[in-house]
Amino acid sequence: MTEPQSLKPKLKPTADGRVSRDNRQTVGDQFIDNPRMTCRDVNVYYADKQAINNVSLDIGSNEVISMIGPSGCGKSTFLRCLNRMNDTIDTCRVTGEIKMDGHNIYSNEIDVVALRAQVGIVFQKPNPFPKSIYENIAYGPRIHGLVENKTEMDEIVETSIKRAGLWEEVKDRLDQPGTGLSGGQQQRLCIARTIAVGPEVILMDEPCSALDPIATAIIEDLIDELRQHFSIAIVTHSMQQASRVSQRTAYFHLGDLIEVGPTSRIFTSPRHELTEDYITGRFG
Ligand SMILES: Nc1ncnc2c1ncn2[C@@H]1O[C@H](COP(=O)(O)OP(=O)(O)OP(=O)(O)O)[C@@H](O)[C@H]1O
Ligand SMILES: [Mg+2]
Repeated sequence: MTEPQSLKPKLKPTADGRVSRDNRQTVGDQFIDNPRMTCRDVNVYYADKQAINNVSLDIGSNEVISMIGPSGCGKSTFLRCLNRMNDTIDTCRVTGEIKMDGHNIYSNEIDVVALRAQVGIVFQKPNPFPKSIYENIAYGPRIHGLVENKTEMDEIVETSIKRAGLWEEVKDRLDQPGTGLSGGQQQRLCIARTIAVGPEVILMDEPCSALDPIATAIIEDLIDELRQHFSIAIVTHSMQQASRVSQRTAYFHLGDLIEVGPTSRIFTSPRHELTEDYITGRFG
Protein backbone atom coordinates (compact mmCIF):
# COMPACT_ATOMS: atom_id res chain seq x y z
CA MET A 1 0.00 0.00 0.00
CA THR A 2 1.53 3.35 -0.96
CA GLU A 3 1.26 6.24 1.43
CA PRO A 4 1.05 9.77 0.12
CA GLN A 5 1.04 11.60 3.44
CA SER A 6 4.60 11.22 4.68
CA LEU A 7 6.70 14.35 4.49
CA LYS A 8 9.93 12.39 4.33
CA PRO A 9 11.79 12.40 1.01
CA LYS A 10 11.95 9.25 -1.09
CA LEU A 11 14.47 6.54 -0.29
CA LYS A 12 17.44 5.97 -2.53
CA PRO A 13 18.44 2.30 -2.20
CA THR A 14 22.01 1.30 -3.01
CA ALA A 15 22.82 -0.84 -6.05
CA ASP A 16 22.50 -4.12 -4.09
CA GLY A 17 19.08 -3.13 -2.74
CA ARG A 18 20.36 -2.46 0.79
CA VAL A 19 19.70 0.86 2.48
CA SER A 20 22.81 2.47 3.87
CA ARG A 21 23.46 3.47 7.49
CA ASP A 22 23.33 7.17 6.54
CA ASN A 23 19.72 6.93 5.48
CA ARG A 24 17.17 7.70 8.17
CA GLN A 25 13.92 7.20 6.28
CA THR A 26 11.76 4.24 7.16
CA VAL A 27 12.12 1.15 4.98
CA GLY A 28 9.57 -1.64 4.75
CA ASP A 29 5.89 -2.13 5.41
CA GLN A 30 5.02 0.71 7.76
CA PHE A 31 1.56 1.05 6.20
CA ILE A 32 -0.99 -1.77 6.07
CA ASP A 33 -4.54 -2.37 4.92
CA ASN A 34 -7.29 -1.88 7.50
CA PRO A 35 -5.12 -0.46 10.29
CA ARG A 36 -6.51 -0.11 13.82
CA MET A 37 -4.31 2.92 14.53
CA THR A 38 -2.44 5.21 12.14
CA CYS A 39 0.50 7.42 13.10
CA ARG A 40 1.68 10.06 10.65
CA ASP A 41 4.76 12.25 10.92
CA VAL A 42 4.88 11.96 14.69
CA ASN A 43 7.53 14.02 16.47
CA VAL A 44 8.09 14.01 20.21
CA TYR A 45 10.13 16.55 22.16
CA TYR A 46 11.19 16.67 25.80
CA ALA A 47 11.64 20.43 26.25
CA ASP A 48 13.82 21.30 23.23
CA LYS A 49 15.30 17.81 22.81
CA GLN A 50 13.71 15.73 20.07
CA ALA A 51 13.17 12.07 21.02
CA ILE A 52 11.06 10.87 18.05
CA ASN A 53 11.70 12.08 14.51
CA ASN A 54 8.86 12.12 12.03
CA VAL A 55 7.60 8.58 12.56
CA SER A 56 4.77 7.14 10.48
CA LEU A 57 3.44 3.69 11.29
CA ASP A 58 0.21 1.71 11.21
CA ILE A 59 -0.88 -0.65 13.98
CA GLY A 60 -2.95 -3.54 12.62
CA SER A 61 -6.00 -5.30 13.98
CA ASN A 62 -5.45 -8.60 15.76
CA GLU A 63 -1.71 -8.35 15.39
CA VAL A 64 1.20 -8.14 17.74
CA ILE A 65 3.76 -5.57 16.62
CA SER A 66 7.02 -5.47 18.50
CA MET A 67 9.17 -2.40 18.87
CA ILE A 68 12.86 -3.03 19.24
CA GLY A 69 16.05 -0.98 19.25
CA PRO A 70 18.92 0.17 21.45
CA SER A 71 18.27 1.76 24.84
CA GLY A 72 17.21 5.40 24.52
CA CYS A 73 16.06 5.09 20.89
CA GLY A 74 12.52 6.18 21.79
CA LYS A 75 10.53 2.93 22.01
CA SER A 76 8.77 3.83 25.28
CA THR A 77 8.27 7.42 24.15
CA PHE A 78 6.59 6.30 20.94
CA LEU A 79 4.48 3.66 22.70
CA ARG A 80 3.24 6.27 25.18
CA CYS A 81 2.09 8.48 22.27
CA LEU A 82 -0.49 5.83 21.41
CA ASN A 83 -2.62 6.47 24.50
CA ARG A 84 -1.41 9.96 25.37
CA MET A 85 0.54 8.80 28.41
CA ASN A 86 3.15 11.41 27.43
CA ASP A 87 0.56 14.07 28.41
CA THR A 88 1.52 13.29 32.00
CA ILE A 89 5.11 14.49 31.41
CA ASP A 90 5.24 18.30 31.68
CA THR A 91 8.09 18.93 29.24
CA CYS A 92 6.79 16.51 26.62
CA ARG A 93 5.26 17.76 23.37
CA VAL A 94 3.85 15.57 20.58
CA THR A 95 3.20 16.77 17.01
CA GLY A 96 1.84 14.94 13.97
CA GLU A 97 -1.31 12.90 13.76
CA ILE A 98 -2.37 9.69 15.50
CA LYS A 99 -5.77 8.26 14.66
CA MET A 100 -7.72 5.37 16.07
CA ASP A 101 -10.49 4.00 13.91
CA GLY A 102 -10.25 7.25 11.93
CA HIS A 103 -10.47 9.67 14.91
CA ASN A 104 -7.57 11.89 15.91
CA ILE A 105 -6.73 10.88 19.49
CA TYR A 106 -5.05 14.25 20.11
CA SER A 107 -8.22 16.21 19.26
CA ASN A 108 -9.64 18.41 22.04
CA GLU A 109 -12.86 16.43 21.94
CA ILE A 110 -11.16 13.22 23.07
CA ASP A 111 -11.80 12.10 26.65
CA VAL A 112 -8.30 11.03 27.66
CA VAL A 113 -9.52 8.77 30.49
CA ALA A 114 -11.76 6.89 28.06
CA LEU A 115 -8.93 6.75 25.50
CA ARG A 116 -6.63 5.10 28.05
CA ALA A 117 -9.29 2.45 28.68
CA GLN A 118 -9.56 1.85 24.93
CA VAL A 119 -5.78 1.79 24.55
CA GLY A 120 -4.56 0.17 27.77
CA ILE A 121 -0.96 -0.03 28.90
CA VAL A 122 0.99 -2.62 30.87
CA PHE A 123 4.34 -1.54 32.28
CA GLN A 124 7.67 -3.23 32.88
CA LYS A 125 7.19 -3.47 36.63
CA PRO A 126 3.85 -4.97 37.68
CA ASN A 127 1.99 -2.23 39.55
CA PRO A 128 -1.16 -3.65 41.18
CA PHE A 129 -3.14 -1.22 43.32
CA PRO A 130 -2.73 -1.74 47.09
CA LYS A 131 -6.15 -3.37 47.17
CA SER A 132 -7.61 -6.87 46.95
CA ILE A 133 -7.27 -8.96 43.80
CA TYR A 134 -11.00 -8.45 43.19
CA GLU A 135 -10.79 -4.68 43.64
CA ASN A 136 -7.80 -4.42 41.31
CA ILE A 137 -10.08 -5.60 38.51
CA ALA A 138 -13.34 -4.02 39.69
CA TYR A 139 -11.94 -0.50 40.00
CA GLY A 140 -11.78 0.28 36.26
CA PRO A 141 -15.23 -1.02 35.26
CA ARG A 142 -16.68 0.89 38.24
CA ILE A 143 -15.14 4.29 37.39
CA HIS A 144 -16.02 3.84 33.72
CA GLY A 145 -19.62 2.93 34.63
CA LEU A 146 -19.48 -0.38 32.79
CA VAL A 147 -21.54 -2.40 35.28
CA GLU A 148 -24.90 -1.97 36.98
CA ASN A 149 -24.79 -4.44 39.83
CA LYS A 150 -22.69 -6.87 41.84
CA THR A 151 -23.55 -9.84 39.61
CA GLU A 152 -22.27 -8.03 36.52
CA MET A 153 -19.16 -6.95 38.39
CA ASP A 154 -18.46 -10.51 39.60
CA GLU A 155 -18.80 -11.66 36.02
CA ILE A 156 -16.42 -9.05 34.59
CA VAL A 157 -13.86 -9.80 37.33
CA GLU A 158 -13.99 -13.53 36.65
CA THR A 159 -13.90 -13.19 32.87
CA SER A 160 -10.98 -10.75 32.91
CA ILE A 161 -8.92 -12.88 35.30
CA LYS A 162 -9.70 -15.99 33.23
CA ARG A 163 -8.65 -14.28 30.00
CA ALA A 164 -5.39 -13.30 31.67
CA GLY A 165 -4.82 -16.96 32.55
CA LEU A 166 -4.78 -16.36 36.30
CA TRP A 167 -8.15 -17.68 37.51
CA GLU A 168 -7.12 -21.10 38.77
CA GLU A 169 -4.35 -19.53 40.85
CA VAL A 170 -6.45 -16.83 42.54
CA LYS A 171 -10.11 -17.87 42.50
CA ASP A 172 -10.05 -18.87 46.16
CA ARG A 173 -8.34 -15.72 47.40
CA LEU A 174 -9.93 -12.82 45.53
CA ASP A 175 -10.18 -10.83 48.77
CA GLN A 176 -6.45 -10.98 49.41
CA PRO A 177 -4.07 -8.17 48.39
CA GLY A 178 -2.91 -8.09 44.75
CA THR A 179 0.53 -7.12 45.98
CA GLY A 180 0.81 -10.54 47.70
CA LEU A 181 1.01 -12.38 44.37
CA SER A 182 4.25 -13.43 42.68
CA GLY A 183 5.74 -11.10 40.06
CA GLY A 184 4.38 -13.13 37.14
CA GLN A 185 0.96 -13.36 38.76
CA GLN A 186 0.98 -9.61 39.46
CA GLN A 187 1.76 -8.93 35.81
CA ARG A 188 -1.17 -11.14 34.74
CA LEU A 189 -3.34 -9.29 37.26
CA CYS A 190 -2.31 -6.02 35.60
CA ILE A 191 -3.16 -7.49 32.20
CA ALA A 192 -6.55 -8.61 33.60
CA ARG A 193 -7.10 -5.09 34.94
CA THR A 194 -6.37 -3.68 31.48
CA ILE A 195 -8.71 -6.16 29.80
CA ALA A 196 -11.54 -5.47 32.28
CA VAL A 197 -12.34 -2.05 30.81
CA GLY A 198 -12.79 -3.43 27.29
CA PRO A 199 -9.76 -2.12 25.41
CA GLU A 200 -9.17 -2.45 21.68
CA VAL A 201 -5.41 -1.99 21.84
CA ILE A 202 -3.00 -3.12 24.56
CA LEU A 203 0.42 -1.48 24.86
CA MET A 204 3.12 -3.38 26.71
CA ASP A 205 6.43 -1.81 27.68
CA GLU A 206 8.89 -4.63 28.40
CA PRO A 207 6.20 -6.59 30.28
CA CYS A 208 8.44 -9.57 31.01
CA SER A 209 11.73 -7.94 31.88
CA ALA A 210 11.12 -8.32 35.63
CA LEU A 211 9.96 -11.94 35.30
CA ASP A 212 11.67 -15.34 35.35
CA PRO A 213 11.64 -17.57 32.23
CA ILE A 214 8.60 -19.57 33.39
CA ALA A 215 6.48 -16.50 34.10
CA THR A 216 7.74 -15.00 30.82
CA ALA A 217 6.61 -18.08 28.88
CA ILE A 218 3.15 -17.83 30.48
CA ILE A 219 2.83 -14.15 29.53
CA GLU A 220 4.06 -14.85 25.98
CA ASP A 221 1.42 -17.59 25.54
CA LEU A 222 -1.13 -15.16 26.86
CA ILE A 223 -0.08 -12.45 24.38
CA ASP A 224 -0.62 -14.92 21.55
CA GLU A 225 -4.12 -15.68 22.81
CA LEU A 226 -5.00 -12.05 23.40
CA ARG A 227 -4.16 -11.27 19.79
CA GLN A 228 -7.45 -12.94 18.79
CA HIS A 229 -9.31 -10.06 20.46
CA PHE A 230 -6.94 -7.11 20.67
CA SER A 231 -4.19 -5.28 18.82
CA ILE A 232 -0.98 -5.44 20.82
CA ALA A 233 2.12 -3.25 20.60
CA ILE A 234 4.99 -4.58 22.72
CA VAL A 235 8.37 -3.03 23.46
CA THR A 236 11.01 -5.65 24.11
CA HIS A 237 14.77 -5.89 24.46
CA SER A 238 14.64 -9.57 23.65
CA MET A 239 14.82 -10.41 19.97
CA GLN A 240 13.83 -13.98 20.85
CA GLN A 241 10.69 -12.65 22.47
CA ALA A 242 9.90 -10.43 19.48
CA SER A 243 10.32 -13.50 17.24
CA ARG A 244 8.09 -15.63 19.43
CA VAL A 245 5.18 -13.24 19.97
CA SER A 246 4.95 -10.76 17.11
CA GLN A 247 3.90 -10.84 13.49
CA ARG A 248 5.42 -7.44 12.67
CA THR A 249 8.52 -5.77 14.03
CA ALA A 250 9.53 -2.11 14.03
CA TYR A 251 13.19 -1.19 14.55
CA PHE A 252 13.96 2.21 16.10
CA HIS A 253 17.35 3.94 16.15
CA LEU A 254 18.03 7.31 17.84
CA GLY A 255 14.42 8.46 17.48
CA ASP A 256 14.03 7.31 13.87
CA LEU A 257 11.85 4.42 12.76
CA ILE A 258 14.37 2.66 10.55
CA GLU A 259 12.61 -0.47 9.36
CA VAL A 260 9.27 -2.24 9.69
CA GLY A 261 8.26 -5.60 8.33
CA PRO A 262 7.11 -9.14 9.03
CA THR A 263 9.04 -10.29 12.09
CA SER A 264 10.57 -13.29 10.32
CA ARG A 265 11.94 -11.09 7.54
CA ILE A 266 13.32 -8.41 9.88
CA PHE A 267 15.34 -11.06 11.74
CA THR A 268 16.48 -13.04 8.71
CA SER A 269 16.93 -10.52 5.91
CA PRO A 270 16.73 -6.92 7.09
CA ARG A 271 16.88 -4.32 4.34
CA HIS A 272 18.54 -1.56 6.30
CA GLU A 273 22.15 -1.75 7.41
CA LEU A 274 21.28 -0.31 10.83
CA THR A 275 18.72 -3.08 11.44
CA GLU A 276 21.30 -5.64 10.44
CA ASP A 277 23.86 -4.09 12.81
CA TYR A 278 21.40 -4.40 15.68
CA ILE A 279 20.18 -7.93 15.05
CA THR A 280 23.69 -9.22 14.52
CA GLY A 281 24.85 -7.58 17.75
CA ARG A 282 27.07 -4.93 16.17
CA PHE A 283 25.09 -2.14 17.86
CA GLY A 284 23.23 -1.68 21.13
N1 LIG B 1 10.64 12.12 30.96
C1 LIG B 1 11.66 12.42 30.15
N2 LIG B 1 12.24 13.64 30.18
C2 LIG B 1 13.28 13.96 29.36
N3 LIG B 1 13.80 13.12 28.45
C3 LIG B 1 13.26 11.89 28.38
C4 LIG B 1 12.17 11.47 29.21
N4 LIG B 1 11.86 10.18 28.90
C5 LIG B 1 12.72 9.82 27.91
N5 LIG B 1 13.55 10.84 27.59
C6 LIG B 1 14.62 10.82 26.57
O1 LIG B 1 14.04 10.46 25.32
C7 LIG B 1 14.86 9.52 24.62
C8 LIG B 1 14.07 8.24 24.37
O2 LIG B 1 13.81 7.63 25.63
P1 LIG B 1 12.88 6.33 25.78
O3 LIG B 1 12.69 6.10 27.22
O4 LIG B 1 11.68 6.50 24.94
O5 LIG B 1 13.82 5.22 25.13
P2 LIG B 1 13.66 3.63 25.10
O6 LIG B 1 13.96 3.21 23.70
O7 LIG B 1 12.37 3.23 25.70
O8 LIG B 1 14.89 3.18 26.03
P3 LIG B 1 15.01 1.89 27.00
O9 LIG B 1 15.21 0.73 26.10
O10 LIG B 1 16.24 2.20 27.81
O11 LIG B 1 13.76 1.81 27.83
C9 LIG B 1 16.09 9.33 25.47
O12 LIG B 1 17.10 10.20 25.00
C10 LIG B 1 15.63 9.73 26.86
O13 LIG B 1 16.71 10.24 27.61
MG1 LIG C 1 11.84 2.15 27.41
